Amino acid sequence: MDVFKVVGGAELAGEVRVPGAKNAVLPILAACILSDKPVQLTNCPQITDVDNMIAILKQAGCAVEENGDSLSVDASAAACCEMPQELSSKLRSSIFMLGPMIARFGRASFCHPGGCEIGTRPIDLHLNGLRKLNVRIREEFGRIHCESDRLTGAQVHLDYPSVGATENVMMAAVRAEGVTTISNAAREPEIADLQAFLNALGFCVSGAGSSSIVVRGGGMARATRHRIMADRIVAGTALCAAAITGGAVTVLDTDPRDVASVTAKLAEAGCRITCGEAEVRLEAPRRLREIPLIETLPYPGFPTDMQSLLFSLCCVADGTSVIIENVFESRFKTAAEMAKMGARCTVKDRTAIIRGVERLTAADVQARELRGGAALTIAALAADGESTVRGVEYIDRGYQRLDGLLRALGANIRRVRC
Ligand code: EPZ
Repeated sequence: MDVFKVVGGAELAGEVRVPGAKNAVLPILAACILSDKPVQLTNCPQITDVDNMIAILKQAGCAVEENGDSLSVDASAAACCEMPQELSSKLRSSIFMLGPMIARFGRASFCHPGGCEIGTRPIDLHLNGLRKLNVRIREEFGRIHCESDRLTGAQVHLDYPSVGATENVMMAAVRAEGVTTISNAAREPEIADLQAFLNALGFCVSGAGSSSIVVRGGGMARATRHRIMADRIVAGTALCAAAITGGAVTVLDTDPRDVASVTAKLAEAGCRITCGEAEVRLEAPRRLREIPLIETLPYPGFPTDMQSLLFSLCCVADGTSVIIENVFESRFKTAAEMAKMGARCTVKDRTAIIRGVERLTAADVQARELRGGAALTIAALAADGESTVRGVEYIDRGYQRLDGLLRALGANIRRVRC
């Protein structure tokens, strides 16, 4: 298991290219099952969640070739398979295989992906949406069996704008007879990337980015090539690293609109934000100001995936900040580790009250999930002394060498094998 050794104090500076988005490439990899023609994906992040999704595709009989940040997927020989428990429990995103498998083979069987450190992660919205498309679903002994001899288009209303449920219904509906309308759909930018990929495959999807998505079923998949969008959460993480160290950083390949709710909060904290067409620059003040209120919401609201990163910033801001986590039920688990660094925070249910301190002090801390691990790492950048961040395997799930990205900006961070 690796750990990060981080010596705080350096002001980050420079510019960084942002890799492809984890939350775009994972559903798009699953969607490759829809095509029996070869698919080329470029700008793919090299992270363990992608490795695990590739393992799932290979388990289903796909040929996958990796060449740096490019992936070639040939699903012509794919067949329906029972998703093995160890893969579906390791990767929550295995649930994305459901829609494409049913669309291609008429059935799918897998284990409930289960919850994780940030919440129970139910899948009722996925299953209810698929039932509307004429999928019969039977749950027994922890396994979920789905089948449909004829997918039919339908009106699917999501009780909550779930990202994954929106994507699963989109991927199933492309092979349904007739038109499917998804109302109260999630509006995250990654959904527009999936729509672009599905249309490049030869299907007909429109409305992504709005809360109403229309899928005209039918169409046959063709060979295609698609470039994965940049990872807006990695971009936000780099900006937060600059902000917490009093630095000045430019993130490239980033659409400023994708991080608008994040940069608005960073500006509230006193950072100077300037945007180009595909880049965002942040210049931090010597000391950050308090952020009176951060509330996580579905896009375009403030993203829950950036909550832990802003939590770190609030720990050293001048004043008291409040964070309300509306999306997941337990996404403040990192607070106890932050307290080891001297942070003064009180957490009750979905609300955190953070009284900023002048400086954090180095500590030996444990990450238990992806974004909390990144938050502990950037907090260590602002702490006096050398911190040890354990649980780097969680960070590697969604960040392509976070240590390398931060080191390129001047951080004193090294990865040590234990
Ligand atoms: C996606 O997860 C992302 N993961 C998450 O990123 C992100 O935090 C989340 O969307 C919200 O933006 C990927 O795209 C791979 P949801 P997903 O369905 O699809 C409830 C990261 O760190 N819900 O929008 O699982 C759920 O419990 C990860 O990169 C149901 O109740 O999120 C949660 O409270 C973490 N029933 C809320 O909806 C369901 O059937 C949002 O979940 C599905 C979800």
